[in-house]
Amino acid sequence: MIRVENLHRHFGGFRAVDGASLEIATGSITGLVGPNGAGKTTLFNVIAGALPPTSGRVFMDGEDITGLPPHALFHNGLLRTFQIAHEFSSMSCRENLMMVPGGQSGEQLWNTWFGRKRIAEEERALRAKADEVLEFLTISHLADHPAGAVSGGQKKLLELGRTMMVDAKIVFLDEVGAGVNRTLLNTIADTIQRLNRERGYTFCVIEHDMDFIGRICDPVIVMAEGKKLAEGTLDEIKANEQVIEAYLGTGLKNKEAAT
Ligand SMILES: Nc1ncnc2c1ncn2[C@@H]1O[C@H](COP(=O)(O)OP(=O)(O)OP(=O)(O)O)[C@@H](O)[C@H]1O
Ligand SMILES: [Mg+2]
Repeated sequence: MIRVENLHRHFGGFRAVDGASLEIATGSITGLVGPNGAGKTTLFNVIAGALPPTSGRVFMDGEDITGLPPHALFHNGLLRTFQIAHEFSSMSCRENLMMVPGGQSGEQLWNTWFGRKRIAEEERALRAKADEVLEFLTISHLADHPAGAVSGGQKKLLELGRTMMVDAKIVFLDEVGAGVNRTLLNTIADTIQRLNRERGYTFCVIEHDMDFIGRICDPVIVMAEGKKLAEGTLDEIKANEQVIEAYLGTGLKNKEAAT
């Protein structure tokens, strides 16, 4: 679904992404791991249109999407999750889902003049859709709670829920598990797998928690110093000498020793 070719993103003289080439297969839950500063988030930002690349190309289903703005990519079904913005934290969870753009007629002037009935119908449909998403996420009981008042993990679920309000094809998740308790992390993992199986979503998931990666991701791509270093199952990359070396002192080994 996604092909990244020799992608570079430099900041001044610093090469955050330094010739990365990789592919994300349709229907996969692809993990993206690597030591801190490897360039994972920067790569996401370039793919998702938040940052222009210095050079290189990104293709989606064979079509060149390099440098397209986020709204155009959104239209193509390429989404990355965003934290619930501060200004929406006093709105309810349901309302936060209903805010996701998707051609609501109510936003167009023409329709506010001529289409009151249609707006009311669409609002009902949108509300029904939001409730269906909340149920899928097992957080129906939070529908009327302000989004700012739910737990960190529940907020992550809600962020994932926003991708369900539109017809997403591929969703990029950057550290959804950070600061989330085990139980909710399991719910998030289940939700990702269900969206993958039942709705055909492809995922690319950045995460430092190797249990989480091992549980849901295949393949796992390892990034180091701005490039793809290795790819395989979690067991394969854990046994890869170059990967171990890249992580020495920072990641995998220390993490495993600690758990
Ligand atoms: N806007 C920026 N200006 C300058 N340097 C940046 C900028 N964004 C990222 N960098 C640098 O690029 C490198 C890669 O950062 P990036 O956030 O992509 O790494 P990462 O793999 O996501 O790391 P982590 O696992 O810690 O989130 C880092 O050294 C970072 O300091
Ligand atoms: Mg990052």
